[in-house]
Amino acid sequence: MLIGPSGCGKTTTLQMINRLVEPTDGQILVNGRPNTEMDVVQLRREMGYVFQEIGLFPHMTVAQNISVVPDLQGWSAQQKQQRAEELLELVRMDSDIYIDRFPRELSGGQQQRIGVLRALAADPDILLMDEPFGALDPITRSQLQQELLELQQEVQKTIVFVTHDMDEATKLADRIVMMKNGHIVQIDPPRDMLRNPEDRFVAEFIGPRRMLQDPLDVTVRELASNGAVRASSDLRLSEAMKKMRQEESDYLVLLDGKNRFAGLVSADDVSRAANDADKKTSVTELADRQTVSCDESVFQAVHKLARSSSAGLGVVDEQNRLVGVFTKTGFVDILVEEMWPREAIDLPEED
Ligand SMILES: Nc1ncnc2c1ncn2[C@@H]1O[C@H](COP(=O)(O)OP(=O)(O)O)[C@@H](O)[C@H]1O
Ligand SMILES: [Mg+2]
Repeated sequence: MLIGPSGCGKTTTLQMINRLVEPTDGQILVNGRPNTEMDVVQLRREMGYVFQEIGLFPHMTVAQNISVVPDLQGWSAQQKQQRAEELLELVRMDSDIYIDRFPRELSGGQQQRIGVLRALAADPDILLMDEPFGALDPITRSQLQQELLELQQEVQKTIVFVTHDMDEATKLADRIVMMKNGHIVQIDPPRDMLRNPEDRFVAEFIGPRRMLQDPLDVTVRELASNGAVRASSDLRLSEAMKKMRQEESDYLVLLDGKNRFAGLVSADDVSRAANDADKKTSVTELADRQTVSCDESVFQAVHKLARSSSAGLGVVDEQNRLVGVFTKTGFVDILVEEMWPREAIDLPEED
């Protein structure tokens, strides 16, 4: 997510990626290759673009709008029709109803869904999205953000998304790129940026601390730590002890053979069990397996954690893949940061 005040160069950056704007200096690498070495037509075909204004063609139907790029690539009528139906299904729009409608017969939210589908039509690896939800009312915007997260689970694209809305950035981003006057001031995952803004500009852009103000509105995904030490679930107790000592960690996140969350063990539990007369042999038997969905609010996660005897919860997505962990100690750290933010004490002055 590229974020920053109006005029800071977000759209320009996005347009340099597909060479709608040519840079005067520097390089942009796409899959490791400078984009200036690629054929510009090919480059643009490999990247879907969703515009700031929706920009559907008013005289073309939904199907025709979705098929703009497939058309250029010479797909057959049947292929185009099939792809349009398939894509409409992806955003749960009934193709019988919508496929032959014109843009003016759709709501703003529906038009923007079609804008996204148009960008996805030829299955590009990369999606460039320029404030795609900026013109929508808050409720529709929030729905489309949620849908984009679900869509992304399905399509797994590389998305470069421009916004000026910090809530949108924290909700959608893996990494936020904060820009100012044509420069990047900070690149970090949302959680790190919220906790450690680089300077006063970033801190002010983020605004008042969101977590204390709105714990229902902040998802566990934003606060989950993904720096935890991971280990295989069939580790023996002695190996687990050794690993925690080496990595100076009070707990391990266990993963099964398919990289799915298999529980959390604390150093206390492991050392207690290791001293026990009837030694258990594997850490799995000691593991706490409680999880929380990454889309739950922090508020719900804290309630779950407070009632539980475990040191933390695994934060997982719908397929039970590990997104991170949410631990009691981690949460206390976050609270301390929220209540006594670093920048209130020792942030350097803006230059
Ligand atoms: N790195 C840059 N160097 C010089 N001019 C820039 C740079 N980035 C943006 N601009 C200029 O600043 C103006 C606003 O940029 P734009 O990308 O539209 O901002 P945003 O999308 O963040 O509102 C444009 O006229 C653009 O040409
Ligand atoms: Mg812009």
